[in-house]
Amino acid sequence: MRWHFSAHPLLILSLSKDGFEGNRRLYQAPRFQEYRRHRLRPPFPTARLPGILSPGRTGSKAVRHDRIEGKWIDAFQRVFALCELRAGDAVAILSETQSRPINVQLAELALHRLGARAVHVIVPTPQQRAPVAVRSTGASDAVQGLKPVIAACAASTLVVDLTVEGMLHAPELPAILEGGARLLMVSNEHPEALERLTPDPALEGKVKAAYRMLRDATEMRVTSPAGTDLAVNVDGALTAGVWGWCTKPGSVAHWPGGLVLCFPKAGTVNGRLVLAPGDANLTFKRYLATPVTLTVENDYVTAVDGGGPDAIMMRDYFAAWGDREAYGVSHVGWGMNPAARWEALEMYDKRDTNGTELRAVAGSFLYSTGANETAGRHTLGHFDLPMRGCTVTLDDAAVVRDGALQGELA
Ligand SMILES: [Fe+2]
Repeated sequence: MRWHFSAHPLLILSLSKDGFEGNRRLYQAPRFQEYRRHRLRPPFPTARLPGILSPGRTGSKAVRHDRIEGKWIDAFQRVFALCELRAGDAVAILSETQSRPINVQLAELALHRLGARAVHVIVPTPQQRAPVAVRSTGASDAVQGLKPVIAACAASTLVVDLTVEGMLHAPELPAILEGGARLLMVSNEHPEALERLTPDPALEGKVKAAYRMLRDATEMRVTSPAGTDLAVNVDGALTAGVWGWCTKPGSVAHWPGGLVLCFPKAGTVNGRLVLAPGDANLTFKRYLATPVTLTVENDYVTAVDGGGPDAIMMRDYFAAWGDREAYGVSHVGWGMNPAARWEALEMYDKRDTNGTELRAVAGSFLYSTGANETAGRHTLGHFDLPMRGCTVTLDDAAVVRDGALQGELA
């Protein structure tokens, strides 16, 4: 078989690794086979077909465009229905210019199906201020304190948060919630992941049970075969549970959900955290290849030990902030979602995942450094470090044993 390589745009674009699958599907289409057999250039605009390939903005690089799928509108619609949206409700779709366009469109279409009245609130993605790349912090600075944006969101029944980082820890959040708006952060994930992690209503009861256990506990202890031994006084900590949707005025949730966590008070966390190969660093969106030992004294990481690339990069990233608060504990907790998969990071290109799924893997322990309002610490530096195989006890009762949820949480 001879191929007509000369000038067909798709053949040039097929040099892109990402585009290969899209090309193959197109080439296998009967209509295209026909043109190829006769070595004709097809009359349809192949490089612009939705869901396949088109030149990037610069024209020099191929990019893959996601295509709207009815099943993804269904998924968004299910989540909005769980949020108890009613026909006629005013809903702000909050996004920024670097938001994932398909999720913004899916939100709008799903709201239309429900008969809600949607309004797009779009802000330009602001200039970077951090000395390093920032990933999945939940602390968007997209709104920049803009009062018209806050007012539009605050006057809505629901805010669908599609900012890149998410508004969970944004400074404008209290003002948005004050008037009774609720906010659902749709994590910056590919809709394929969101579809797979459409919340199971059964999760709500289990997360609420875990929330009560953590809220009522005094001491959390975390151990692992790799050598982790951490003690957290959780008395008076700010506790939160997320099952993936929100119904009450002034409440916040994120999709995907399925975790319980707390922000401990100042001076309550001490011990040793040993991140083993296979554990994850979600700031880097990477599974650890080499062990890292974090020494934690009175909330602060005081040593990052390990000779491999993971320890080296963590030391450098911590140091780049030039801010002691970046070493403090942000939150501790564990995952509750049986649909969340540990290997998820391996299944998506980095730009297609925000790693929320790994925070929610049932029975994983999540340790995070960075901002903690309960302890009065504010910083943009943030590590989310989910770990496998840990045992988590609350006042000596195991809620997670060897990475498995226990009792009524299982
Ligand atoms: Fe976090």
